[in-house]
Amino acid sequence: MLIAGNATTTTIQPGAKLSPRLFAEVRDFAYRTAGIELQEGKQEMVAARLWKRSRVLGYESAEAYFDAARRDRGGDLELDILDALTTNFTSFFREPAHFEFLRKKILPTLRNRREFTIWSAASSSGEEPYSIAVTLVEELGDAAYRQAHVRASDISTKVLRNAEAGIYPEERFRNLRDDWKSRYLLRGKGEQVGYYRFRPEIRRMMHFVRINLMEPLPGDGPFPLIFLRNIMIYFDRPTQERVVAAMTVKLEPGGYLFMGHSESLNGIQHSLEHVQVAIYKKAGRLEERA
Ligand SMILES: C[S@@+](CC[C@H](N)C(=O)[O-])C[C@H]1O[C@@H](n2cnc3c(N)ncnc32)[C@H](O)[C@@H]1O
Repeated sequence: MLIAGNATTTTIQPGAKLSPRLFAEVRDFAYRTAGIELQEGKQEMVAARLWKRSRVLGYESAEAYFDAARRDRGGDLELDILDALTTNFTSFFREPAHFEFLRKKILPTLRNRREFTIWSAASSSGEEPYSIAVTLVEELGDAAYRQAHVRASDISTKVLRNAEAGIYPEERFRNLRDDWKSRYLLRGKGEQVGYYRFRPEIRRMMHFVRINLMEPLPGDGPFPLIFLRNIMIYFDRPTQERVVAAMTVKLEPGGYLFMGHSESLNGIQHSLEHVQVAIYKKAGRLEERA
């Protein structure tokens, strides 16, 4: 349960720094719980975010909020502070070369399968997994609604709730063609003017689940393709190595791992083949029917 008091005064103001002790404790918490490495330079960002959440929830100080969250293992407050500490920036068709690769190099092999699932493993608010779903429909036609699924997972329940709703303000789609919008989106009316929602047939392809990549992964899979984009930058090298090893187990033979364009597996131990920028492949051959 969220615990809210009445006091609104805080000991940390925006722009101020956390005490070195508190920052060290927050860093330790973020690392242990989410694998996230908060660099020294993030002090102000962390201070501002904790300050903001402590005010919203009515804690007397950022310290009080942090202490309560730290004690709330697995509870809403712990999730709340993880939301505050993670960076959820994303966009539709971010890094378009990956969607081209999916269309041209992967889907020709998967199109004859009865069913398959692609996993977006740090999906944030849903832009990435919906971009995957739309690419599947663009390439496979209506058959995609029956055969293709997208699993969207993230550590943050807040972004997953947004993703599941599938509602986005119009400006999120500003670079996308109008015919694309009318095929895949419903325009909001009344109070929803200015918003679009993905059509139900697209939403039915999606499955949302909270997965913390620091914890043992669910027993399902393997998957022909996993998107693990723009999350590795927050992890230190040993954590990256552990996450990539766990993802490799979750890939089918010949399956692909996509990372963010500014990320790579250079310098970490892994068994994947480098295919092109930010695209890695597990040994073997993807089966046309699996
Ligand atoms: C910058 S977003 C990347 C979104 C998307 N993949 C993209 O490239 O646009 C990073 C996401 O990783 C999530 N994240 C951070 N630590 C995580 C963890 N330990 N397990 C799962 N997700 C995590 C954050 O909540 C955030 O939504």
